[in-house]
Amino acid sequence: MKNLKTIVLSNQEISPGYFRMKILAPGYSNASHPGQFVMFRVQRSLPPLLRRPFGIFRVGFMPADCDNMAAKEFIEIIYKVVGSGTEIMQGLHQGDPVELLGPLGTGFDCGDAAGEKILVGGGIGLVPLYSLAEQLVQTSRVRLLMGGRTRDDIITVTEFERLGVETYVSTEDGSLGEEGLVTRVLERKLDKYPDASVFACGPMPMIEAVQKICLRYEVPLQVSLEALMACGVGACLSCVVKGEGHSESEPHYLCTCTSGPVFAAEKLDWTHSEIKMVKNGGGK
Ligand SMILES: Cc1cc2nc3c(=O)[nH]c(=O)nc-3n(C[C@H](O)[C@H](O)[C@H](O)COP(=O)(O)OP(=O)(O)OC[C@H]3O[C@@H](n4cnc5c(N)ncnc54)[C@H](O)[C@@H]3O)c2cc1C
Ligand code: FES
Repeated sequence: MKNLKTIVLSNQEISPGYFRMKILAPGYSNASHPGQFVMFRVQRSLPPLLRRPFGIFRVGFMPADCDNMAAKEFIEIIYKVVGSGTEIMQGLHQGDPVELLGPLGTGFDCGDAAGEKILVGGGIGLVPLYSLAEQLVQTSRVRLLMGGRTRDDIITVTEFERLGVETYVSTEDGSLGEEGLVTRVLERKLDKYPDASVFACGPMPMIEAVQKICLRYEVPLQVSLEALMACGVGACLSCVVKGEGHSESEPHYLCTCTSGPVFAAEKLDWTHSEIKMVKNGGGK
């Protein structure tokens, strides 16, 4: 993990409100693991004061003859514009200076090659699943179940298909793919593939529904959580979630930024519907 002062290579809107940013990132191809994230900061910009966490969508290399730069590695992040930080980010252009702290956190355990792998992505939760899919397709059959409210929330699915992943799209308004919730598709797939392992990232109601389904089908589940994060390195405790066995008398908290963002489902306390201690403190 290091702080990297670097530049934006490109920043494009890929769907209304969703942007894809390529950032020069020497060293990331060896250092980063699927499911990890970066704390991103716009250099010379105040506010926002705090860095913002973003999953690493993909690590890649520019062609050797491209420009005259010594380091050719880049990372891509995909972000949804929701507040002050992401509003500033959408205005960045090629060559603008930015800072990355990372790669951070504990990513996915790709496990053994046996059995089907089912990835469940809700909206922007799709981001950390791409580099996971890149690894899993080398040994396993991989299916992506992608859900969103409308067709605008369905992003980069064709890129998963190019990896050899079978994809299933559902939207709540029926504007793309099957109408309804992605969890309905998950139940159907688990009826068919009861030995599957499931990997999920998305909004908390989706994650909780996926957890209940996986418990019922007795299949292993890993979830990538989003919590409000101020530091990203375990120092501020703004990102804690309740861990397995948590109680008032014996509290057990885990930092999402260091113990996660990816957790095996059984390591978390699901007894209360709100496992996250999210305070609505964005915008600093
Ligand atoms: C590990 C991790 C990975 C993430 N990966 C991505 C990603 O790949 N793409 C992406 O678009 N977003 C991702 N996020 C969420 C992203 O960090 C926030 O959307 C971003 O920080 C918002 O910044 P802002 O200044 O634009 O909004 P703010 O002005 O800070 O907040 C706007 C609204 O968004 C809410 N919000 C802010 N941060 C979060 C959060 N972390 N979780 C839930 N709600 C939040 C606030 O409560 C507020 O209501 C990730 C978060 C985490 C913890
Ligand atoms: S974000 Fe500071 S401890 Fe996790």
